[in-house]
Amino acid sequence: MLSVIAGTVFYIATWASALNDPLSDLPRFGKPLNNLTVSVGREAIFTCHVENLGPYKVAWLRVDTQTILTIATHVITKNHRIGVTHMGHRMWSLHIRDTRETDRGWYMCQVNTDPMSSNTGFLDVVVPPDILDDSTSTDMVVREGSNVTLRCAATGTPEPTVTWRREVGGNLTNLVHGSVLEITRVTRDQMGSYLCIASNGVPPAVSKRIVLIVHFQPMVRIENQLVGAYEDQTLVLECRSEAHPKPITYWTRPSNETIANDNNYKVEAIPQGYEITMRLTIKSVQPHDFGSFRCVATNSLGETDGKIKLYRIDRSPTTRKPNSRRDSKKSWKIDYSHERNSAGMKDEPMLKAIDDEEQSDFQSATASSIFANLFANLGITAVTAILAGGLST
Ligand SMILES: *[C@@H]1O[C@H](CO)[C@@H](O)[C@H](O)[C@H]1NC(C)=O
Ligand SMILES: *[C@@H]1O[C@H](CO)[C@@H](O)[C@H](O)[C@H]1NC(C)=O
Ligand SMILES: *[C@@H]1O[C@H](CO)[C@@H](O)[C@H](O)[C@H]1NC(C)=O
Ligand SMILES: *[C@@H]1O[C@H](CO)[C@@H](O)[C@H](O)[C@H]1NC(C)=O
Repeated sequence: MLSVIAGTVFYIATWASALNDPLSDLPRFGKPLNNLTVSVGREAIFTCHVENLGPYKVAWLRVDTQTILTIATHVITKNHRIGVTHMGHRMWSLHIRDTRETDRGWYMCQVNTDPMSSNTGFLDVVVPPDILDDSTSTDMVVREGSNVTLRCAATGTPEPTVTWRREVGGNLTNLVHGSVLEITRVTRDQMGSYLCIASNGVPPAVSKRIVLIVHFQPMVRIENQLVGAYEDQTLVLECRSEAHPKPITYWTRPSNETIANDNNYKVEAIPQGYEITMRLTIKSVQPHDFGSFRCVATNSLGETDGKIKLYRIDRSPTTRKPNSRRDSKKSWKIDYSHERNSAGMKDEPMLKAIDDEEQSDFQSATASSIFANLFANLGITAVTAILAGGLST
């Protein structure tokens, strides 16, 4: 009997004539087999509906390998994942447990009439996406300006599609579709986390985060390279540096010594991303402070410095004795007017003294404004020192 059924597989094309004859006493299929789609690992169940089975038997076969799986209630194959159940003589179910991708294919429900009759259905085994770590980029460290290729290899059935997204401050922005993300001449702004997401309609989609680190040598920016100050003034000097890896930063004073925090100097480095604001507060400017201060940023790729020259200005208009009557009347205001007139100057406020009663003070203040304008006209950025000492009345 076993060989008879195996032999009949070759007659798949000849089925039906007897089954469609309503007057016949022969068995007849109730409805076609459903096609099945299951996720790998799940159980697949084909059910064959047969009317009028009579003395005949229902067998299940795998079409592509021409293997008999079950006959009636017996499992013939050695595959332990195969089972058969039935409800009466009409419903015969083939169970394929713990499906594997190799189970994908055509299955046949066959009745041993002569010629045999059969019905086929297709089992699709789908596989959720997976990212292949070996062929997918890992975190990368590159030099600024180089070309970067990020790869993401994914498997799954059907074949997954890969998309790239970038994470900026917790937000995701979509980039390209495709397993390869090319970045030409990478910039420091492109430093960050990239997500490759693989999906194929079979949950769950998977993603991998790749961190791109861009290295570049330090850069230093200074707003005011020339700063006028008077003795005893409190002064803040500032440089901004950009660098990655994170640089070591320090200041030197005119004598070229490195500045440490002490009673008179306060050194701060405030990082924000790859940017660092370097701030030097001089609590009271001393004669040896007139000269060039340098802010220095150094990392493995190089060292860059910036110079700020401190020059002496007259201690106007704050030389009056404290607690005098005039002091209480004096006021400071921010004056934009003269900058509008001087070419090349943006709205950088100037401090100017106004004193109704003290004409000489007003004049000296005006004189220092003219002095500032002179620098502006020479193309030198004039300076707004923080006149903390002078402001406190
Ligand atoms: C099963 O799928 C095949 C093609 O894959 C199709 O020809 C057939 O009609 C499908 N059967 C059913 C019952 O949907
Ligand atoms: C990076 O790519 C651009 C454009 O494809 C090319 O012109 C350039 O030579 C590449 N640079 C390097 C360092 O390979
Ligand atoms: C993230 O998105 C929110 C809302 O769309 C926005 O308000 C916020 O500024 C974004 N943050 C960044 C870092 O882009
Ligand atoms: C500080 O160093 C600079 C060069 O970096 C040099 O020109 C200058 O003379 C030095 N100043 C002192 C006081 O040593």
